[in-house]
Amino acid sequence: MKYKDPNCSVGERVEDLLARMTLEEKVAQCVQIYIPPEGREEILARIRKTGLGSRILSAVPLGGSVTQRTAGIADLNEVQRIAVEESRLGIPILSGMDVIHGQHTVFPIPLAMAAAFDPAALEQASAIAAAETASMGIHWTFAPMMDIARDPRWGRIIEGYGEDPYLGAQMAAAAVRGFQGELDEKGYARPGRVLACAKHYVGYGAAEGGRDYNTGEITDHTLRNIYLPPFKAAVQAGVGTVMSAFHDLNGEPASGSRYLLTDILKDEFGFEGFIVSDWASVGELVNHRVVAGERDAAALAFDAGFDMEMISECYTHHLAELVQAGEISAQRLDDAVRRVLAVKFRLGLFDHPYADTDRQLEQLPLDEYRAASRRAAARGMVLLKNNGLLPLKPDARRVAVIGPYAHERRTMLGSWVNDILADEPGTLADALRAALPEAQILTAPSGLYDEMLMAAAEADVVVLALGESHARNGEYNCVASIELPAGQQALFDALAGLGKPLAVVVYTGRPVALTRIAPQADALLLAWHPGSLGAEATVDVLLGAVNPGGKLPVSFPRGEGQIPVHYNHNSTGRFNPRYHDMPVTPLFPFGFGLSYTRFAIDGLEVQPQAVQPGGRVRVSVTVTNIGERDGEEVVQCYLQDCVSRLTRPVRELKGFERVALQAGESRRVSFELGAEELSYYGPGGRWVLEPGEFKVWVGSDSNASLEGSFRVA
Ligand code: NOJ
Repeated sequence: MKYKDPNCSVGERVEDLLARMTLEEKVAQCVQIYIPPEGREEILARIRKTGLGSRILSAVPLGGSVTQRTAGIADLNEVQRIAVEESRLGIPILSGMDVIHGQHTVFPIPLAMAAAFDPAALEQASAIAAAETASMGIHWTFAPMMDIARDPRWGRIIEGYGEDPYLGAQMAAAAVRGFQGELDEKGYARPGRVLACAKHYVGYGAAEGGRDYNTGEITDHTLRNIYLPPFKAAVQAGVGTVMSAFHDLNGEPASGSRYLLTDILKDEFGFEGFIVSDWASVGELVNHRVVAGERDAAALAFDAGFDMEMISECYTHHLAELVQAGEISAQRLDDAVRRVLAVKFRLGLFDHPYADTDRQLEQLPLDEYRAASRRAAARGMVLLKNNGLLPLKPDARRVAVIGPYAHERRTMLGSWVNDILADEPGTLADALRAALPEAQILTAPSGLYDEMLMAAAEADVVVLALGESHARNGEYNCVASIELPAGQQALFDALAGLGKPLAVVVYTGRPVALTRIAPQADALLLAWHPGSLGAEATVDVLLGAVNPGGKLPVSFPRGEGQIPVHYNHNSTGRFNPRYHDMPVTPLFPFGFGLSYTRFAIDGLEVQPQAVQPGGRVRVSVTVTNIGERDGEEVVQCYLQDCVSRLTRPVRELKGFERVALQAGESRRVSFELGAEELSYYGPGGRWVLEPGEFKVWVGSDSNASLEGSFRVA
């Protein structure tokens, strides 16, 4: 049989198999379900009869709440055996699971990975997550999430790469490369990699009021220029699958939009993989009230472009009949099935359907993975303020380590992990104690504020761990106020009143308002939810073993009244926007982050000064470490199209490089700007490069003031 022959091409195998399939078998490939223990026998009988596209290894609809392993290798192999040996055509099942920022070794949350401004580190983290996931017999992760987010009230801001389309696109592509790896010369995936899924397509982060699942309204102009670039980059990086968003966008549920799914994603971007719905989002078209029942939901979603339905079973119940009635064409069904089968062939499922017991987790170099996670965590931390208190002096005698997160483990991991790992991370207090064996570490594990104050009063220096719990962000965990959770400001105020040197570490998944903390703290370190080795990584930074170099991938507002506040806002016509009661600028801008050393950026050169459309401009600067410690700076290049037919951002990030420099060392850094960077989605719904003047700024955050210009003529 040709389709079973690994010497045939993927295309030949797909066509051969497709030609053998019945209508029911084709529909079954478009279905993804969860196999609950109670309904197991029934589902196995169904697999024997028609096969099954995919199983999701999650019992719960809400992301971030996985409390147990939902399948082990034995179970995965047993179900696979039934599909492969007992169904007529032996088509293997694709097993998928949410591996968002690590499987066994937990890496920092994606927003923190973005803060490292280091796509290679994200690629490595994703490759490690892939190796661990594949070793457990799982083929597919529902990551990376690449929703641009300008609203920190929205809990899912933690899962993405922040507010910027350029940074988001670099990160999305890196994660896809890391999870999937390169295909071999015959078009097959290599062992130890998994299929990635770009989500949530698209504009999900623009939920009104920051309320998850809520309506969004985004003009085509903004959709194309801001929200779509990461998805386009993921497609260009070869992502195998895309997941749609739950919400309704511009009056149409994203899960029922032919314009988004077929016209843009498949036809325009040339996406060749398959599109999966989000959890029951096909069935939920009924809740959106754009269809009256499941049959119409199946028709709308399938016609819109969904190839596979997750959890709700509108396709199972109605797709065959819709095809027989001529309401869905047989060609469209074949197109969907081809896409699913091609992915399965590429993953090698037909040739190696079973989980390889030799590749078990324990066989992997887990110590190396942990070291990579610790490095990544420290690299993503952002020093927001330092008056010289940090790094802590190694001879500190009495150090108080207090606050709600001083003894916390689970929050270190972030919201979307296997909760079975909850007890595994160390605590900040223990990590500091281990690193400063000579010092007296004063703590208040009781969590009582009066005891914290007593510890602080005894200490020479205070490390205060504030923030928000992992349970307070992620899916369906939104907040109306971005102030720190109840009581923390009061605790801070009381401590600040003691007049002790005070370093504040903030563990958070979203921007929180630090407006009343920053002025009084001596040092402020944003540590995010940093993963398995988060406590140790925090100590690496606090003591200076690692010099912080992370930068904000999202603006930190002064308060929620400023939302949305993002650096790449459009130019206005009349005065600068203002409030009477608050500045309009964020407390900390996009791209901002300090170091224990200082950098100078100068010597800007723009060559050539004039180019024709399609030509390339080189922008270069010299970056020098003018302080006394080795350190890393993220040099950032911003662009402005001075006069454009449609209103455009005041500036846009178009290049960055994280550079490691020894004390006193200099390096020339350059950025290339070509047609892609200079174009925008403009008049008439086309990408245009409009001749005229362009400005560039290079510096260490989005307020960079070193300015140059060139002309496109
Ligand atoms: C719903 C979430 O929106 C999505 O991100 C996730 O992948 C699916 N559930 C599957 O768990």
